[in-house]
Amino acid sequence: MENVSPTHKELINVMKNARRVFVFTGAGVSKESGLPTFRDDDGLWKKFDPMTMATPEAFRENPVVVWNMYRIRQTQVLSAQPNPAHKTLAQMEQFYPDFLLATQNVDDLHERAGSRRMVKIHGNALEMRCLDCVTIFDVREFSFPEEFTQDTLPRCTKCGGLCRPNIVWFGEYVPQEPMMAAVRSAANCDLMLIIGTSGEVSGGYGFAEYALANGAAIVDVNPGRGALTRYARFWVSEPAGSALPQMWQEVTKNIAEG
Ligand code: APR
Repeated sequence: MENVSPTHKELINVMKNARRVFVFTGAGVSKESGLPTFRDDDGLWKKFDPMTMATPEAFRENPVVVWNMYRIRQTQVLSAQPNPAHKTLAQMEQFYPDFLLATQNVDDLHERAGSRRMVKIHGNALEMRCLDCVTIFDVREFSFPEEFTQDTLPRCTKCGGLCRPNIVWFGEYVPQEPMMAAVRSAANCDLMLIIGTSGEVSGGYGFAEYALANGAAIVDVNPGRGALTRYARFWVSEPAGSALPQMWQEVTKNIAEG
């Protein structure tokens, strides 16, 4: 693995010549939009204990506390804006014949930046799901109180059942469809971009191993070393919001020069 600048010649060459691209993002790609990560020093799991906030048992024990934490997340997501990293990824998707972005993020910043060829493998902070009839709702269609109480917890408009955030919690399975699409893309890509993830959860789901087994070049964009950096041919140890636009500008300039 080589620690390179965003405009490193060989890196740009690999990105320019790629045809089948798989992108795997985590909370770091939304950091420059003002959304906290989980495991950085100022991360969410430094403030909240994930075992009392992000498990089905925690929700059963104390739905009010869990819902009020997710209320804060929803408000943060709704007031955040996509940053240049999200926008660059949406541009890249137009260029490559075969492209899939798999995000662990539950914010909607990739979507708002214009990404379409994407899957969410950890759910969506702006959705809630009925525990009884599993109907999924967009939380923006409801006017929630500032703070939930036991009596004001969100309920299903179809069956009256209690609703929960439509997020994959610790100890739960990731949704099969999105996961299978991500595995197929990782196993067939010739370039994998890992952006803003520590790779701590499920070891990055084996995506990097699948990509390597297919001979793909792996690029890790992360100011810090993550659990997946060791798989990378190139490590760009800079914030995604500045590194990705620089990388993409260099690739498109290179293509224009023929
Ligand atoms: N640009 C790129 N990467 C960044 C930036 C940035 N500006 N700022 C921080 N990072 C990196 C950190 O160095 C870290 O490696 O982003 C990574 C964030 O790691 P985590 O906080 O562990 O977030 P993530 O990898 O997305 O966590 C995966 O864990 O708790 C679960 O469900 C939650 O989806 C989340 C999953």
